[in-house]
Amino acid sequence: MNYLSGFGNEHASEALPGALPAGRNSPQRVPYGLYAEQISGTAFTAPRHANRRSWLYRLRPSAMHQPFAPYASTRFHDRFDEAPATPNQLRWDPLPLPAAATDFVDGLVSYAGNGSAAAMTGLGIHLYAANRSMQGRYFYSADGELLIVPQQGRLHIATEFGVLQLEPQEIALIPRGVRFRVDLPDGEARGYVCENFGAHLRLPDLGPIGSNGLANPRDFLAPEAAYEDRDGEFELIAKFQGGLWRAAIGHSPLDVVAWHGNHVPYKYDLRRFNTIGSISYDHPDPSIFLVLTSPSDTPGVGNMDFVIFPPRWLVAEDTFRPPWFHRNIASEFMGLIHGVYDAKAGGFAPGGASLHNCMSGHGPDAASFDKASNADVSKPDHIVATMAFMFEARAVICPTAQALALPQLQQDYHECWQGLRKLFDPAKP
Ligand SMILES: [Fe+2]
Repeated sequence: MNYLSGFGNEHASEALPGALPAGRNSPQRVPYGLYAEQISGTAFTAPRHANRRSWLYRLRPSAMHQPFAPYASTRFHDRFDEAPATPNQLRWDPLPLPAAATDFVDGLVSYAGNGSAAAMTGLGIHLYAANRSMQGRYFYSADGELLIVPQQGRLHIATEFGVLQLEPQEIALIPRGVRFRVDLPDGEARGYVCENFGAHLRLPDLGPIGSNGLANPRDFLAPEAAYEDRDGEFELIAKFQGGLWRAAIGHSPLDVVAWHGNHVPYKYDLRRFNTIGSISYDHPDPSIFLVLTSPSDTPGVGNMDFVIFPPRWLVAEDTFRPPWFHRNIASEFMGLIHGVYDAKAGGFAPGGASLHNCMSGHGPDAASFDKASNADVSKPDHIVATMAFMFEARAVICPTAQALALPQLQQDYHECWQGLRKLFDPAKP
């Protein structure tokens, strides 16, 4: 599988030689009898550095399908106001893999979110557990771009732009509106999806870090053009204003023979992240682990951020090395892709999730605190088997009623901090 390297770049790809029109976007006649179509991911007049659009050269225009009708899916939605937002710390065990045949779309369970597709701000957080490839069906979200974080099982994501082969510890970014199908080469799959209703995710500025570091642009990979010339009785599922819609379509919508532009799907291997930390004392705020950010209208404040906690060396002297106790204005939804998260001795399993909302105190559990307080910090620690991540939002992330009713919700999560003893002794400075 070949990929095109670079983030936000103007890429071009053709599956047949000469399919890309030379010198113009919509010539009177496109080579091979293809239709020219533009997809815009930003306002036409967005500044050049933020402008996203692509030109697609395809067998049939995307308008060709039967009318949409509501698609009854009870678990994948944007109903973030059904349950009262709670200041409690929340944690869930992993979703079980389904017993009945369930594909990627039907396997999505909405856990939490804020804002709305209508307001074009906020995010939706969904977990998926699936055991069947999407058969004769295709999906797109008009509500936001999709950040897909597989935790178990590979995903073969066939998009209008080509195919992304994805395995756990890689992520995929499917831009708003781009149609795709997910096949499961391992038979079963589980993971996380963040739907970003706001400005598209981009690489953060690096400030004094300089021109390299964190996620490097060249490690973001767009697919090469690949098209399906398939007729049949298929269906197109759309997510539109928080609801799912279904339309019959007589052909595969993945029929793009050539394309150019920068509104394109990407994948990124989290193991390529250039992790930066303290080499003296303390550790920086977790913004040092920022992979991608969706800016808001307020400078320096993200609508949502995607942050990872990858393998790394801890070398800070005279320092409590795990993440400290904290309360943030931001709200934090965490997941674990594999291994162990260094602030928790137990209870946070790969495939699980936690939610710590605005000003809800959290941090290491009692066992992790004791261990780190007594560790020999004259020597480095090498954290190897781990990959945790966070979807962080400026606004409170409201759990859905169904997420609060899941049997996977841990009723005793708060107990992990109850063993922290009072160590204060006014006689012992
Ligand atoms: Fe936190």
